Amino acid sequence: MSKKVKGVILAGGLGTRLKPLTDITNKHLLPVYNQPMIFHPLKKMVEAGIDEIMLVTGGNNAGDFLRLIGDGRQFGIKRLQYTYQKGEGGIAEALGLAEEFSEGHPIMVFLGDNMVYDSLKPYVRQFSKKTQGGMILLKEVGNLSSYGVPKFKGKTITGIVEKPKKAPSPYAVIGIYFYDALVFKIIKTLKPSGRGELEITDVNNAYIRRQKMQYGILKEHWADAGESIDSWFEANVMMHSEMTKKKRKR
Ligand code: G1P
Repeated sequence: MSKKVKGVILAGGLGTRLKPLTDITNKHLLPVYNQPMIFHPLKKMVEAGIDEIMLVTGGNNAGDFLRLIGDGRQFGIKRLQYTYQKGEGGIAEALGLAEEFSEGHPIMVFLGDNMVYDSLKPYVRQFSKKTQGGMILLKEVGNLSSYGVPKFKGKTITGIVEKPKKAPSPYAVIGIYFYDALVFKIIKTLKPSGRGELEITDVNNAYIRRQKMQYGILKEHWADAGESIDSWFEANVMMHSEMTKKKRKR
């Protein structure tokens, strides 16, 4: 029996890597080509069949999300909830705030600054049929020292190294994750990392240790628009070229 997958979009933080653009607004409200960055994860989730979403935000401009997105009906969202992360406790801490919202359902977590062009529908479908475990998505990229990078033994992932000096494989773990309800128990056991945050990579490693982590590999482009000004700029160019391709196909 398949279980309904709910969505959690993480859009907090102070966006210090995108300063001075983020001095007066939240990173996820910045434009990426022709729309605010946050529209991308919202649309991708709805396209993938998810209609109950929690948006976790933080920082000084949280109210602007409500002004921009409202109840989310224009995107086809049935139930949109908002919550607020105080401070800079990290991705895993932000995710922990969605425990009650999830009501024991499997969840897809989307970092609000990640842009993907593969359809996420097959992954949501695949995950809704599983009753246990987690799933991560990988993409082969060049600048691996900015990301989580998996280590492999054969085809099995044996661990993820966060921002490695020497990458153990050519893949980045992108910011879209699938978890069962165990995730909230795992988050409660985490200790802050060197950068003072609860790391999503520690969550993923906990699943890997339990041998309960699957993975998929993306075929299309992936951009992390929040990694640096350059990556944000490249995400704009990529979005422009994808939109032009789509228009030409029509
Ligand atoms: C986070 C994760 C990292 C992942 C990246 C994807 O990095 O910690 O494992 O590869 O998102 O966008 P951060 O943006 O917090 O530096």
